[in-house]
Amino acid sequence: MSILVTGGTGYIGSHTALKLLERGERVVLLDNFSNSGPDVLTRMEEIAGCALRFYRGDILCADTLSEIFRTEDVEGVVHFAGLKAVGESVQKPLEYYRNNVAGTLNLLEVIGRFGVKNFVFSSSATVYGSRSVAPYREDMPAGGCTNPYGQTKYIIELMLQDLYASDDSYNITALRYFNPIGAHPSGKIGESPSGVPNNLMPYITQVAAGKLPELRVFGADYDTPDGTCIRDYIHVEDLAEGHVLALRNQRGFNIYNLGTGTGTSVLGLVSAFEEATDVKIPYRIADRRPGDVQTSFAAVTKAREELGFLARFDVRRMCEDSWRWERYANGHA
Ligand code: NAD
Ligand code: UFG
Repeated sequence: MSILVTGGTGYIGSHTALKLLERGERVVLLDNFSNSGPDVLTRMEEIAGCALRFYRGDILCADTLSEIFRTEDVEGVVHFAGLKAVGESVQKPLEYYRNNVAGTLNLLEVIGRFGVKNFVFSSSATVYGSRSVAPYREDMPAGGCTNPYGQTKYIIELMLQDLYASDDSYNITALRYFNPIGAHPSGKIGESPSGVPNNLMPYITQVAAGKLPELRVFGADYDTPDGTCIRDYIHVEDLAEGHVLALRNQRGFNIYNLGTGTGTSVLGLVSAFEEATDVKIPYRIADRRPGDVQTSFAAVTKAREELGFLARFDVRRMCEDSWRWERYANGHA
């Protein structure tokens, strides 16, 4: 029996697929390479030391999905495939609704036809919006996201909840990720943003590599100890482990945060990076970025008690691994 990993050559999907293999599961990957490429698959195979079952295709294509379910003995699906750039989603909302919402709907319909009942979905802490105050608990009100990307995540959560309400033989888990950073310890796979990065860690590593001149810190006048925003950064390897545990402990419909429960400020992450790597990050304070929440970090009790999930890696290790990946990627560009 295999686990189908959609978006399996993407940043989080690739780490999770390797972690599942490490834990003795069989995996089948699906990706359309819209935000990754065949080189990632090659490097994953180098790390795994074996060939991987891979389909190049789109979750929007029912025929491709049916072929996979007819050919492979799939018992569960971990669904990463989707578009994820907040700013782009504001410019191209329909692409986001089509790819993320319609794509997931299509996948669920095909899964239903083939009688596959176990489903894990990549949701996001962004669904907490700005209504609640951190630490965010899974039972706090969600929705009211400020951008189409966030809305798609919330709509999919509702869709999954309704599906389970109609048929409780499903096991459905939505995992709300906080801020995944870091990379595989081999340094061979990691996050590859196209163009100038929007997210903090890839921006920092590109400044460190000399590809960008300086970091702009978006706002130093927040009501936080150093005035900069606070986030819950989690190592992608911990996140991957969270998916293994979620699959092993599926029972009905559940939502879990995947975070560390610890907040780090923007300047705190810059200092941690400098200490971990001995590379100086030039920065200047810029205006606040519209839509940013001041403080976001996870309540971790539910994931710990029900899944046995506890993040292991600290921010220093996240910085070391992100930097190792940045240097590898530059050497192989
Ligand atoms: P990613 O872009 O690296 O990976 C997504 C993969 O899905 C890519 O390889 C892309 O080619 C593929 N893909 C996109 N649309 C597809 C389609 N229609 N059919 C087949 N493949 C398709 O992103 P990631 O950071 O690995 O994120 C994975 C999931 O986690 C996404 O759903 C994202 O929204 C969610 N998430 C990510 C973060 C984050 O900060 N990285 C935070 C919260 C949630
Ligand atoms: N930041 C800077 N300079 C930069 C980039 C970011 O100061 O060049 C700051 C931001 O203003 C924010 C913090 O660094 O205060 C973190 O920003 P990121 O863009 O790395 O992360 P966000 O928390 O804003 O958003 C991320 C993903 C979303 C996801 C959310 C919650 O981009 O898709 O985490 O999981 F929804």
